[in-house]
Amino acid sequence: MNRSLVCVVFTMSAGLWSLAVAWAHSGAMGVVKERMDAMTEISRNVKTVGRMLKEEIPYDGEAVAKAGTVVADHAGEAMTRLFPEGSLQSPTEASPAIWKQWNDFSQLAERLRVSALKLGDGARSGADRKTIMSSFAEMAGTCKSCHEVFRVEK
Ligand code: HEC
Repeated sequence: MNRSLVCVVFTMSAGLWSLAVAWAHSGAMGVVKERMDAMTEISRNVKTVGRMLKEEIPYDGEAVAKAGTVVADHAGEAMTRLFPEGSLQSPTEASPAIWKQWNDFSQLAERLRVSALKLGDGARSGADRKTIMSSFAEMAGTCKSCHEVFRVEK
């Protein structure tokens, strides 16, 4: 191949490459998207309960029970299976530490599941405000504990 042709081919492939990168950045795909969606749904439910406990909206035990179930359904193994080893495709905020400390990571996902179930059960059985508050705090604490170590916010 003559030199200028090599040059053209090179420039073209570089162009395609940057196009591919730009595309990846425009939105998450595959398992990264799946777990971002799951986290967003978790977050929406937790926020609603938080607003009830802050008395910004009326307390609704049934809705809290439901929120607990939704969060629990996305936690534990349902959460960890969305983190296959090395799935760090852009624009992920997952830290590579997840796979170095897999036990800690999966324990936190399980703690989220157990605490969300506890919150849901409490709400379902009409537990008092203090009990609901403490279950909620326990659940929200797992978000923070996990994000501190395993999420790199961008
Ligand atoms: C076991 C660890 C773990 C637990 C527990 C956890 N998260 Fe996350 N969360 C992550 C990781 C890792 C990411 C980054 C995922 C990615 O970008 O690929 C994340 C991302 C998020 C995001 C950003 C989603 C997006 O669209 O980019 C939100 C919101 C979120 N989590 C909310 C929560 C809330 C609320 C809780 C608790 C009720 C929670 N998470 C519990 C690990 C966890």
